[in-house]
Amino acid sequence: MVKITNLSKSYNRGAVKAVDNLNLHVKPGEIFGFLGPNGAGKTTTIKMMVGLLNPDQGSIFINDYDNQRDPIAAKRSIGYVPDSPEVYDRLTGLEYLDFMANVYEVSPDEKKKRISYFLEMFDLVDAANDLIKSYSHGMKQKIVLTGALLHNPALWIMDEPMVGLDPRSSHLLKELMREHCDRGNTVFFSTHILEVAERLCDRIGIIHKGKLIAIGTLEELRHGEHAGTLENIFLELTEQ
Ligand SMILES: Nc1ncnc2c1ncn2[C@@H]1O[C@H](COP(=O)(O)OP(=O)(O)O)[C@@H](O)[C@H]1O
Ligand SMILES: [Mg+2]
Repeated sequence: MVKITNLSKSYNRGAVKAVDNLNLHVKPGEIFGFLGPNGAGKTTTIKMMVGLLNPDQGSIFINDYDNQRDPIAAKRSIGYVPDSPEVYDRLTGLEYLDFMANVYEVSPDEKKKRISYFLEMFDLVDAANDLIKSYSHGMKQKIVLTGALLHNPALWIMDEPMVGLDPRSSHLLKELMREHCDRGNTVFFSTHILEVAERLCDRIGIIHKGKLIAIGTLEELRHGEHAGTLENIFLELTEQ
């Protein structure tokens, strides 16, 4: 579902190497957790996956489409939740969702059904006609999540999606992720919440200073040279 090959990206004319020769496969049916300390290169990788940044080198295939050669085809199968929910403040929640559904060419019937499904679930029915400007951070996060999922994308790419969600919404999101993958779809998300990764992910990749330094199931990581909890493994691997 995702195939990243020799991916590199630097900023400031090469002064900061944010992603350094990354190779990664994510299969259908998998929840893949992308872990790493602050500044490791998670957001840069994700922005290249969704087509917001161009790589210096390397390729990314999404659902067998090269996202540089066939960006529209690649983007159709992606639902993207960025690291901070910056949405159009002067739209109401409903206007924003309507806009997102139209961008992704969701049919009117589907649109209506899916919007009410998510608004109910995320407890946003009452706020749907208010301007997004008036929303709390968590409400914005939930409206962005909803907008990203309206076209029922096969691949969810989420950058720290639990940040700002209350425990109930965070629980709901985790359930949604599991259900999505159980139907043969794929979730790729970054997090620094190790307990979430430990409980939810089928496989985990740890990135540090732009390089992928470990990848596998939790079991595989544990049976490597770094035994113990994910926290131990993480701390050992990312030691300065
Ligand atoms: N727009 C930018 N300009 C310059 N440097 C950047 C920019 N965005 C990120 N960086 C740098 O690239 C590295 C990786 O950052 P990022 O991908 O945001 O990591 P993460 O999401 O894992 O915290 C960091 O050293 C960060 O300071
Ligand atoms: Mg980030």
